[in-house]
Amino acid sequence: MAKKLWGGRFSKKTDPMVEEFTKSIDHDYKLAEYDVMGSKIHVRVLRKSGLLTSQEETKLMVALNKISGQIENGKFNPDKKCEDIHTNIQNLLEKNKIIGDLVLKLHAARSRNDQVLFSLKLFCKTELLELNILCVELQKSLLGVVRKNIGLIIPGYTHLQHAQLVLLSDYLQSYVEMLERDDFRLSSIRNNIKLSLGAGALAGTPIEPKKYKDAIKEFLLEEKELAKVLNIEESLTTPKSIETVSDRDFVIEILSALSILGMHLSRLAEDLIVWSTKEFGFVELDDAFATGSSLMPQKKNPDVLELIRGYTGTLYGNLVSVLTVMKGLPLTYNRDMQLDKPPLFSSFEIIEKELKVLPKLIETLKWNKANIKKVIDEDETLYATDLVYYLIGKNIPFKNAHDIIGKLVKFSLNTGRKIKDMKDQELKQFSNKLKHDEIYKLIDPEVSVLSRVSVNRTKIKEKEKA
Ligand code: ARG
Repeated sequence: MAKKLWGGRFSKKTDPMVEEFTKSIDHDYKLAEYDVMGSKIHVRVLRKSGLLTSQEETKLMVALNKISGQIENGKFNPDKKCEDIHTNIQNLLEKNKIIGDLVLKLHAARSRNDQVLFSLKLFCKTELLELNILCVELQKSLLGVVRKNIGLIIPGYTHLQHAQLVLLSDYLQSYVEMLERDDFRLSSIRNNIKLSLGAGALAGTPIEPKKYKDAIKEFLLEEKELAKVLNIEESLTTPKSIETVSDRDFVIEILSALSILGMHLSRLAEDLIVWSTKEFGFVELDDAFATGSSLMPQKKNPDVLELIRGYTGTLYGNLVSVLTVMKGLPLTYNRDMQLDKPPLFSSFEIIEKELKVLPKLIETLKWNKANIKKVIDEDETLYATDLVYYLIGKNIPFKNAHDIIGKLVKFSLNTGRKIKDMKDQELKQFSNKLKHDEIYKLIDPEVSVLSRVSVNRTKIKEKEKA
């Protein structure tokens, strides 16, 4: 095992099993970039506090910049023998001959506990911003399908049974709306994550908050882009140290928002899975976004969509995992909290992959308009509710109208007689208010959809004012 950040009070070496069991480098290496940023700020804090001279600060900065450069160029290889990424970065600095023993001053007035928090929060803010961008991309691809299919009418379902006709554009806009809420949730969480330094292990440090804040602001002058996009200045706060090092609410909020987002994507996936079956035949996946069977040569399977549906289980599991880790932990830091990272990273990774694969999959879908029309043409029950409204319009009380149309539908289904073909004479047995010429006009997909004006419907035709 590599050198540790502690050890003086121990008279025995740590058992290799303990080292293996307790280390977190396998996961938290992802925080490398943000840990270095934290150190760059800390070096400034130490100089401002008189614990480092300006020359010492410059030397340490050069060494830290070297590491950031390596990370940026993909040349940083985490040392998996280290306890965690924070130890790894410290050890790298110690190996840098130019700074020599100077590095031994770096860890003054700080603990890994606030290092973990600072780097994790910065990481989360960056990832959340990336997800905001990806949410918008997916919305754009859904809106692209909406635009290409203005006026395409599909059966709407409740209980997965034919209900009433709706527009495909409205259907897909529902997902755009859901993503709008996800996007909002993610940015709210991102804006609410407060950054702070100076919590120490749990009880604060002998350095005033102003020095930390000024050091962070100074750092941000160099990292203008980061400062601007992550709104960092506004999220700076003075730590309530005990609370700060104990808090993992932001992790749980993120895991919860990602669970909801994943659930939305899973529902979209499920709709597309169902619609791409032979039984529905509304849509076909592009070959590049489907998979085959090793045995059955005819198969074209929606594995991508199934995995999106399946990963929801992992996302929920990750949320429950951190909620459970946190439950009953005494204040302040406990090592249990290290276990927040694998589920958090896992959820970020899953959602990022899903949001990246879906836009292309959606854009390349082939909508089978002929099949959709056939399904609609074959089922007059989709107009049953419209016929109830028609009778209400003739002053028949709703309950009676419901009953009359129910009987009419039952008769039609039992006899195979199309309602559209029934003349006044035949309709009279249900109600003398039912008129063939009027009903004939109502049994039309466009008339049906246009009759519902209470909703924020997308346009059905270019010329229609929605
Ligand atoms: N790898 C640890 C974590 O992520 C670092 C914190 C260790 N702190 C401590 N007080 N033992 O939680």
